[in-house]
Amino acid sequence: MATSPNWPKFALADKYDAIIAVDDCHATGHLGPKGRGTGALTGANVDIITGTFGKTLGGAMGGFIAGPQQAIDLLRQRARPYLFSNALAPAVAAGSLKALELADKADDLRATLMAHTRRFRAGLAEAGFDLLNGETPVIPVMLGEASKAQELAAALDKRGVYVAGFFFPVVPKGKARIRTQMSAALSRDDVDFAIGAFAEAGRELGII
Ligand SMILES: Cc1ncc(COP(=O)(O)O)c(C=O)c1O
Repeated sequence: MATSPNWPKFALADKYDAIIAVDDCHATGHLGPKGRGTGALTGANVDIITGTFGKTLGGAMGGFIAGPQQAIDLLRQRARPYLFSNALAPAVAAGSLKALELADKADDLRATLMAHTRRFRAGLAEAGFDLLNGETPVIPVMLGEASKAQELAAALDKRGVYVAGFFFPVVPKGKARIRTQMSAALSRDDVDFAIGAFAEAGRELGII
């Protein structure tokens, strides 16, 4: 496997002849050249990639697994949402294929998305919110208790900002959060509106 020497974790896979599998749900569509994800960003030869159609690629349902034919053949027999359950509707699959095609050429949208991400992160941090570190457009606002995440989500809903709380068992106990996702379809004013709503609601609830 060809890996980048700048990424020691991937170099270890070379050393031990290990397979690299990456859950690229927070990267597909925006990280790396043409939005091709962590492998493209790091130069690592990723063997198996899982990604979602529900984030950068536009919010449709479902996701995908890309990998060697043997893995795909096995998953076609064993993967839960593929067999003994309804797989992706053809219209969603077609829409997602189009989203992948658009993402390939969307450097301008990626630049807008990353600018919004930096602006939103900076705005929330300045307001006093505790954010999970990272650079992707998926920005978790850490709140601790599930009730806080639910109260903040409700207060934001009243202000015209729709967000959903995440809490146990999706995340560990005491690490409830609201997970926000930036979008290139928003304007800068929209981003500022959301920051303002977070700040107001956060102050109202004594979170910041
Ligand atoms: C890291 C990670 N992997 C996988 C998933 C599952 O994605 P989906 O709910 O779109 O199937 C998520 C969803 O939030 C995620 O954050």
